[in-house]
Amino acid sequence: MGERVKGKVAIVTGAASGIGEATAKLLASEGAAVVVADMNGEGAERVAAAIRAAGGRAVSQRTDVSKEDDIRAMVARAVSEFGGLHILHNNAAMTAGHEHANDLDLLTMTVEYWDRSFSVNLRGAMLGAKHAIPVMIAGGGGAIVNTSSNQSLGGDLSQFAYSAAKAGVNALTRSIATTFGRRGIRCNTVSPGHIETPTNKASVSPEMSAAIVSNNLIPRAGRADDLAQAVLYLVSDEASFVTGQLLSIDGGQMAHLPHYSYLVASGAKTTNQTP
Ligand SMILES: NC(=O)c1ccc[n+]([C@@H]2O[C@H](COP(=O)([O-])OP(=O)(O)OC[C@H]3O[C@@H](n4cnc5c(N)ncnc54)[C@H](O)[C@@H]3O)[C@@H](O)[C@H]2O)c1
Repeated sequence: MGERVKGKVAIVTGAASGIGEATAKLLASEGAAVVVADMNGEGAERVAAAIRAAGGRAVSQRTDVSKEDDIRAMVARAVSEFGGLHILHNNAAMTAGHEHANDLDLLTMTVEYWDRSFSVNLRGAMLGAKHAIPVMIAGGGGAIVNTSSNQSLGGDLSQFAYSAAKAGVNALTRSIATTFGRRGIRCNTVSPGHIETPTNKASVSPEMSAAIVSNNLIPRAGRADDLAQAVLYLVSDEASFVTGQLLSIDGGQMAHLPHYSYLVASGAKTTNQTP
């Protein structure tokens, strides 16, 4: 057990699985009391129970982040169980493969799906911040981390609603950081690349995974813990001078020009003609 967030109270949304689960467990192992929030109440309780079994402090809270009443209850639970709130990781998103199947083609995109995607992937983060910030300010300040995606930074052949909503998350982060910085609130974005969470593995084929990894400067897929470590840093006092930033945790995928994987595969050393 470490002490990097000792005495802090944290909420992690989408914490029944993947990146959120890893973050909830890491924050708890570093001394935070954690509200494990997820639409999947059973999964959230499984994670909270694992944290308690490991000697940490956690409760689960069934929460649909698109619903304001659920978010209000989630923040109230942090206060009633643990006496305040210092850390919020807005991490829940519509990640399931059957949801992305609705996001393949702009020309047949339904308004209902577009709005549903935004209600979870962007409104969820707004509602979390809206209800957490007053409690954080009353308690002397706090740190928010929003999970975005590399999809928000570059175009793809699908995921129109998801990428646009995640780009909204990036902008929301900057607005929150700017507006509330002088009242003790820091807000940053983590932008995952290809992270092998259970959901990701179920929806990305091994061939596609290899193709994505061929564009990583660190030649492996990401792990949920890569994100958890970044979130821990951003919410800890070590990052007390860091706000309004987007931190890509992607093995360097967005740090190079598009022909990188061709150069590596072909053995070419340079894009220039050599004499
Ligand atoms: N895994 C990746 O490669 C990757 C890449 C880029 C971005 N991300 C982002 O990282 C975050 C976590 O992704 P993951 O791969 O760990 O996903 P995951 O599917 O493992 O976990 C997502 C969790 O969110 C929950 N959830 C879904 N809708 C919800 C709602 N309305 N309210 C509350 N909870 C809800 C699910 O029940 C699930 O437990 C998401 O924001 C995702 O967009 C992931």
